Amino acid sequence: MRFQPSFLDEIRDRVPISAVIGARVSWDRRKTNASKGDWWACCPFHGEKSPSFHCEDRKGRYHCFGCGVSGDHFRFLTELDGLSFPEAVERIADMAGVPMPARDEQAEARERQRASLTDVMEMATAFFQERLQGSDGARARAYLRDRGLTSATQQGFRLGYAPDSRNALKEFLASKGVEKAQMEACGLTVFEDVPVSYDRFRDRIMFPIPDSRGKVIAFGGRAMSPDVAAKYLNSPETELFHKGNVLYNFARARKALGKEGTVIAVEGYMDVIALAQAGFENAVAPLGTALTENQMELLWRMAGEPILCFDGDQAGLKAAWRAADLILPSIQPGRTARFALLPEGKDPDDLVKADGPDAFRAVLSEARPLADLLWMRETAGGVFDTPERRAELEKTLRELTSRIRDESVRYHYQQEMRDRVHSFFGAQRGGGRERPGGRGQNQGWKQGQGGQWSRGGGAGGRGAITESLGRSALVRRAGEAMSVREATIVVALVNHPLLIDENFEHVEFLDLANGDLRRLHTALLDALAHDLATDRNAVVEAIDRAGCRDVWERAVALVRRTRQWPALEAAAIEDARDAFTQALHLHRSARTLHRELKQAEAALASDPTDENYRHLVEIQAQFRDVQATEALIEGFGVSSGRAGRV
Ligand code: UTP
Ligand code: MN
Repeated sequence: MRFQPSFLDEIRDRVPISAVIGARVSWDRRKTNASKGDWWACCPFHGEKSPSFHCEDRKGRYHCFGCGVSGDHFRFLTELDGLSFPEAVERIADMAGVPMPARDEQAEARERQRASLTDVMEMATAFFQERLQGSDGARARAYLRDRGLTSATQQGFRLGYAPDSRNALKEFLASKGVEKAQMEACGLTVFEDVPVSYDRFRDRIMFPIPDSRGKVIAFGGRAMSPDVAAKYLNSPETELFHKGNVLYNFARARKALGKEGTVIAVEGYMDVIALAQAGFENAVAPLGTALTENQMELLWRMAGEPILCFDGDQAGLKAAWRAADLILPSIQPGRTARFALLPEGKDPDDLVKADGPDAFRAVLSEARPLADLLWMRETAGGVFDTPERRAELEKTLRELTSRIRDESVRYHYQQEMRDRVHSFFGAQRGGGRERPGGRGQNQGWKQGQGGQWSRGGGAGGRGAITESLGRSALVRRAGEAMSVREATIVVALVNHPLLIDENFEHVEFLDLANGDLRRLHTALLDALAHDLATDRNAVVEAIDRAGCRDVWERAVALVRRTRQWPALEAAAIEDARDAFTQALHLHRSARTLHRELKQAEAALASDPTDENYRHLVEIQAQFRDVQATEALIEGFGVSSGRAGRV
């Protein structure tokens, strides 16, 4: 293909030839007159000791008085670097910041191919939309109605129905002159390992996935009956569709930005759609995978501080952490994210349907900055009762923040984390162990309507970690959280069965709050009854047989993550014994106090005397003290048997 001379002139004019050549030679300082654009160097085409190679920016040409070579920008790159002419043009255009015109036949052919693929996708979209309105779409219409989607919403998102047929779409497209190869290239038919290709999407609700300009490039297909293996079936990667580079609803959300000010990333198609119907038109979703870097870039193209919204269960919290780790290195001034966690067990779709838009607005307003999320991850459940442990925390935080590439943001993060460590542990440094209850924190508890008592206000000292966790909207109370303390106890017992013997009467009546750990504990007692609890591996096997392997692995992971090393297999028995004894002691006080607390609350509710009030306040203070020391992890340990992704 020939380039337009005007295009070549334009890019040649924009780039001084000395900038092209200067990358390959050192200019001779004495002979050169840079301000005049008059440059001299030793010739890169032939070896020489004194500079006889000359170039002039004004003319855009070079000439060697030694060997006689001469030429312009393109000639230099083709002769010296061996680039092809089009490559040289591309290089200069790049330096000039001018986009290349559509260039060679192949690129044009690819463009045409892409165009025809999007045409095919458009035809398929229209086909699915039409079938949704047809007679075989009745069940799909009922399904969408049951899920509360208005027909305006359905049309806005161009929802459709793929009939229960192996070739309905194939035949429709063929009748429009679409070739088999194009259907395959669009991912609309399955053709591998089968003699006759067939429709990929059958008997599914179809969600067209548009690219950033609004052209459909893929589909998500949802099965309506719960017993189909893959709830969602998505288009495969195609020439048009690379799922890590696409956000569902990007184009529409971008239009809505002006109104909302930011963009919200949620997990699923249905969430995006339900939110749009509830008035949040600025939501997008990745396509069945964790957010990728490219998707973050898309979010940042829309807003400096997108809100990333996660499920309020363990998997959601993990996903939030993964996202935090992903973006941490690339945050910049004005380029970060906030994290919102939903009430446990509800996705945005459920939430707006059950509790209305305000409930979701509340979740958004409680979104936490990245710094909070990181701090909470590193401190939740940790025990920081020695200088060594606090130093270790500081070290972890330092390592974490050092991953931030932007110098100024990194500096501020480091300062912030140092401040937090100091203000949270400040109470310990002034000597004497202070009871949080003795510092006026009791006022933090206040009576709500209906005689309910709730926590609020009050911070400082070690207790603050637990308190801030307890209050945080991000980590909502999980019904049965696995606490570090309980996990440590059980893991230490299994790994060091000698401890069972030594503490038998306590071990037998461990009052564990977490149901999963209770099952593990029962398995342990069973092994004991069968005389198996003498060696560690036999106990682990017994746990396996009892079907508790998964709980066991989670407990070990929690112990490891929170650095309770002495409970692990490799620890010496002396260390294990110390850690175990400490954890058991805390556990017993916490459980006892918890019961007393409940009783005191009940007593005050039924008989609001001053005396009952003082008693409750006293128990609360003790309870917080114990809790502060062990810093319960909230939000952990809730198993989340998620369906496999497709
Ligand atoms: P969810 O399981 O949370 O589904 O998956 P959902 O979005 O709430 O959908 P409904 O309400 O059950 O209809 C979240 C996202 O994960 C991907 C899809 O992108 C889905 O929107 N996913 C899920 C898959 O790709 N395949 C699956 O089998 C399940
Ligand atoms: Mn859902």
